[in-house]
Amino acid sequence: MVFNTKKIVTDQLDKTNVPEHVAIIMDGNGRWAKRRHLPRIAGHKKGMDTVKTITMAASEMGVKVLTLYAFSTENWKRPTDEVNYLMSLPTTFFSSFVPDLIENNVSVKVIGYVDQLPAATQKAVNDAVEQTKDCTGMILNFALNYGSRAEITTAVKEIAQEAAEGTLDVNQINEQTIDQHLMTKFLGNLAAPDVLIRSSGEERISNFLLWQIAYSELIFTDTYWPDFTAELFASLIIEYQGRHRRFGGLDPDKKE
Ligand code: FPP
Repeated sequence: MVFNTKKIVTDQLDKTNVPEHVAIIMDGNGRWAKRRHLPRIAGHKKGMDTVKTITMAASEMGVKVLTLYAFSTENWKRPTDEVNYLMSLPTTFFSSFVPDLIENNVSVKVIGYVDQLPAATQKAVNDAVEQTKDCTGMILNFALNYGSRAEITTAVKEIAQEAAEGTLDVNQINEQTIDQHLMTKFLGNLAAPDVLIRSSGEERISNFLLWQIAYSELIFTDTYWPDFTAELFASLIIEYQGRHRRFGGLDPDKKE
């Protein structure tokens, strides 16, 4: 595949300030399809192609972790046909794309309640994780059957259990304890996204990475996910680079 992000990357993008962790709420597939008088699943199919484009663009740019919200714990409420189609997408996606991922040194990871997915979906995801486990470049992290409140609830239960068993002293519980019990634990110091992007004009977080985005820059774009391009992605990263992250402190040049 040929991606023409190179010029933008070279001309305008500050290569020394590429966000390490980019998280994306891929929204607008249904509306994209409706506008074209197509069934909603046509939007998801095109959205899957966009995932490939943006994965390659992010990897080429030097992003270390790309977390994509592919299916939430609330998405089961959708019509059965749509849910079934969404559940079939990982099989389609990975069967054609794993060789490209390996060629680009991208490893696949997953957060969410994977064991509740249909067996074929679990197999497709687990196979992709296994096949790419030796890749040392970007981590392509799919949130599948993921919900942040459920994730935090699970973490609280585990911590309470350890306290009840006496393996954890309640007075020792701190923010790191929480980090260690979230599904993003394996990302270590990259668990918090530097930037969260949402497509389609909606300006909501929708139960995505609530703990982890405490200090993330939020960027909303009107473009529907199926229309999202490598060029748009690069322009949003440039927008991120224009933000001043203070993490609750002051700008370095305003400190006196
Ligand atoms: C939100 O748009 C999108 C989803 C719920 C599904 C996202 C899935 C993909 C982009 C494909 C994922 C690919 C793989 C490989 C798992 P929406 O349907 O809510 O759109 P609407 O708000 O316009 O109705």
